[in-house]
Amino acid sequence: MVARDKARLVVLASGNGSNFQAIIDACENGRLDAEIVLLVVNRPGAYALERARTHGIPSRLIDHKDFADRESFDAAMAEAIDAARPDWIVMAGFMRILTDDFVDRFQGRLINIHPSLLPKYPGMNTHARALETGDRVHGATVHFVTPTVDAGPPIVQGRLEIFDKDDVESLKQRIHGVEHRIYPLAIDWLVKGSIDFDRAAAQTSPAVVDASGALIVPPSP
Ligand code: GRF
Repeated sequence: MVARDKARLVVLASGNGSNFQAIIDACENGRLDAEIVLLVVNRPGAYALERARTHGIPSRLIDHKDFADRESFDAAMAEAIDAARPDWIVMAGFMRILTDDFVDRFQGRLINIHPSLLPKYPGMNTHARALETGDRVHGATVHFVTPTVDAGPPIVQGRLEIFDKDDVESLKQRIHGVEHRIYPLAIDWLVKGSIDFDRAAAQTSPAVVDASGALIVPPSP
């Protein structure tokens, strides 16, 4: 039997990188048959860089402030990504709006995680908005990236109940816990071919994981 090469992941991050860490852990403990071949960050102080160093993962700092415009920044990113020959490009807290050209180039292989149950609350301040609305259920979504921000086909959502005592900080922490479960899971499905862009786009609702981590709605076949 010919051993299949591990799926190659490029991760894009801007900050702490706790989702990056969850993916590193899943690769290292064998839950994910993938290797992170490159981390790209756009901010010099991003703690994700430290995580990459600790785990021997190659990293590149491409500081958006060194570029005259979005187009040239995205072109530099695209070049670095292509050179790493990834199967999947994983945005893990990457805080830059991408140009349509960049998204078109990688569409179908480019995924993101967002801290809300999309299509609810695209954009920023999702926890505050869920609390203000009086929602009882909140969560996070892994989705394919398309040119419209936070609007691409969802792959999986992780849900949790909002308690009366919750505030923005407690929700942020609890949602991070959800994210760390669903991001490696979604990547595992992509690597195994259980879901792809077309199937995600065709399904009326995505797979769902509950607060205990149980898969209560599987991806549609
Ligand atoms: C996460 O909440 C993610 O949903 C959002 O940015 C945050 C990144 O957190 N896109 P971290 O850097 O992975 O800790």
